[in-house]
Amino acid sequence: MRKKILFGNWKMNKTNEEALAFAKVTPSIVKLAKEHDVILGIAPSYLALETLKKGTEGIVIAAQNVHYLDHGAYTGEVSIPMLKAIGIDTALIGHSERRTYDNETNEKCHLKIVSLLQNDMVPLYCVGETLEQFNAKKTKEIVETQVIEGLKDLDEEAMKKVIVAYEPVWSIGTGLNASPEIAIDIISFIRKTIEKMYGKDVSEAVHILYGGSVKPNNIHSYLANEEIDGALVGGASLEVESFRALLTAII
Ligand code: 13P
Repeated sequence: MRKKILFGNWKMNKTNEEALAFAKVTPSIVKLAKEHDVILGIAPSYLALETLKKGTEGIVIAAQNVHYLDHGAYTGEVSIPMLKAIGIDTALIGHSERRTYDNETNEKCHLKIVSLLQNDMVPLYCVGETLEQFNAKKTKEIVETQVIEGLKDLDEEAMKKVIVAYEPVWSIGTGLNASPEIAIDIISFIRKTIEKMYGKDVSEAVHILYGGSVKPNNIHSYLANEEIDGALVGGASLEVESFRALLTAII
């Protein structure tokens, strides 16, 4: 059975000092998560990765992005070996903010996912449609393309490690969350798409999360359904008490 996952994406928030203050109060939250078999994760800025990695135990600390090449003349980028050197084994790929502001295409996401898996790391691959696409009833078409192009041609065993997050762009940071019915429908569709690509054994192993305006007062409505394996949370993951409240709402 797949475990439930609660993952915070801090985006461009928190200095090192603020990350350290958060880390200091996490042991009681980690203990609670362990007792209830919930996997916790946080994706801070690059600068706070090492701080959180050293300052916490029992939380997956993930990068928010990565370059697909090991090294080279790519100003401003961070490579997989650099992350591995500080013990990081997970990275978000294709977050809609990177797709929107940094021209992150499905092709680029695919290169990064391949490199991560070759390095025995876990890609947390984000997919989701814009409001325009949602209104035009193109959600499934868009998400299917993102899944097929991002996750094609992977080793079957490696594919089982991939985490997918369905994050409708119109629901991110807007308070307009997709209803649990929409989330369940699209997440089931994503699982079916993965099944067509890799078979049932693989599709049943892949964790698929929902993200977009998840708060302590609505997280349970998503995770109560067994199709939804967890939540990727932005704003509500920033304050430690809110992070704790997200966890207590699902255990
Ligand atoms: P919010 O929870 O702030 O809507 O952000 C969701 C998100 O983008 C997580 O990756």
